[in-house]
Amino acid sequence: MKILIINGPNLNMLGLREPGIYGSRSFDDFLVELRKNYKQVDIIYHQSNSEGAIIDIIQQFGLECDGIIINAGAYTHTSVAIADALRSVSSPAVEVHLSNVFTRESYRHHSFLSPVVNGIIGGFGLDSYRLALEALLNIL
Ligand code: DQA
Repeated sequence: MKILIINGPNLNMLGLREPGIYGSRSFDDFLVELRKNYKQVDIIYHQSNSEGAIIDIIQQFGLECDGIIINAGAYTHTSVAIADALRSVSSPAVEVHLSNVFTRESYRHHSFLSPVVNGIIGGFGLDSYRLALEALLNIL
């Protein structure tokens, strides 16, 4: 089982960035634990701050993996191109957010990705990614 996790812009700053909203743990640290707890899953991880690179990652790995977990960060709210890239691969996908975007600014309430993914998980900090993984494993 191969699952691709994609993090978008500024998520490389997790642990340092607005810890009151996003927590004080780095994604790399969390990923070590996730991989340890899901040894049966081959977790491929990529992060990029640029929209085109995220699209390249989806195109490169999206066809060979069994599922995609994506937190596109602010591109969630702006990117038709990332939504189109997700549409072009057949693997099921889950949109993830650390924060509950609906309790935040109204410009975070719209997602271009939500209509093209199987489901959305947000508001549980880093645990949102584990919940997304569980959800994918249940449907695969
Ligand atoms: C985020 C929410 C987005 O609105 C924001 O731009 C992010 C992180 C989240 O995980 O809560 O960068 O996707």
